[in-house]
Amino acid sequence: MFHDSIRPRRLRTSDGLRRMVRETRLSPESLIWPIFVAEGQGIYEEIPSLPGQYHYSPDQLYRMVERARAHGVSRVILFGLPKEKDEIGSGAWAEDGIVQQGIRKIKELAPEMYVITDVCMCEYTSHGHCGILCGCDVDNDQTIVRLAQIAVSHAAAGADMVAPSDMMDGRVAAIRGALDQNGFTGVPIMSYAAKYASSFYGPFRDAAGSAPSFGDRRSYQMDWHNSREAIRECALDVQEGADIMMIKPAMSYLDLVYQCKQRFELPVAAYAVSGEYAMIKAAAKAGLIDEYGVMCESAVSIFRAGADILITYYACELADAIRKGDIG
Ligand code: PBG
Repeated sequence: MFHDSIRPRRLRTSDGLRRMVRETRLSPESLIWPIFVAEGQGIYEEIPSLPGQYHYSPDQLYRMVERARAHGVSRVILFGLPKEKDEIGSGAWAEDGIVQQGIRKIKELAPEMYVITDVCMCEYTSHGHCGILCGCDVDNDQTIVRLAQIAVSHAAAGADMVAPSDMMDGRVAAIRGALDQNGFTGVPIMSYAAKYASSFYGPFRDAAGSAPSFGDRRSYQMDWHNSREAIRECALDVQEGADIMMIKPAMSYLDLVYQCKQRFELPVAAYAVSGEYAMIKAAAKAGLIDEYGVMCESAVSIFRAGADILITYYACELADAIRKGDIG
């Protein structure tokens, strides 16, 4: 039966009213922009799989800083592309490693910028896996010792926060212990708590040169049939001392963003990964969708599900959309 006095459309009658009753509010301060730092000089190259995103050598990072400032984005997460790789990924914890150089450069250029680092080995190992191999599998316990060493080296270079993305068991505790022992008690850990073995990482692996040379990551990243297992992963990371929990990818995993927000007291971050960005770019280029509209709607959906923080290649464009009042 239609109660003609009850009309939800009443609250949709004007733009001003719709804005007043918006349930989801966004801020540019909740956005983190992923940045690829490449070893070498004079490198400022658009990444073919991620249109609009670039490889920057340290001497070119001023371009990233200029763009970030122009859009009011002041949080970045760094990924490194080393020149040399080896079996154990030793470039990842080198004092003059590429991420370490990148951190120092950004801090010199833009002390106000909040610099987070991805802690993983896949960009540094010759085999492309996220840890130390034992036969054909990644050895968990040897790997977490190295991850801890990488996190400490990032903190020593000036990183504000570290974000382990490897999915080894016990890495958060190992990293927390090592940071504390080395005097970095104030450096928070944003753990990729529930990271799935996803096909949405394809464009990133091209961008970072980090595809595994054999096999896949399914013995450490999660099976996307599972959600209860993700809750277990998050609970373990809370116990081990994580400060922020991240769900990755974002759009296909909003059930987990929602559940984690309800169940845990930590801030929840979501990572709208390379494939999510590349799909929007490709569909827009083909004339199939409106890029700006889809970018806005998908970002808002992630916050509506409960995310407090969004890691996104669209950070600059979204910050503008928020400021213009198109969203948030
Ligand atoms: C490193 C790492 C990956 C991503 C973030 N950190 C790739 C992977 O796990 O294969 C993916 C990010 C993206 O797709 O945007 N382990």
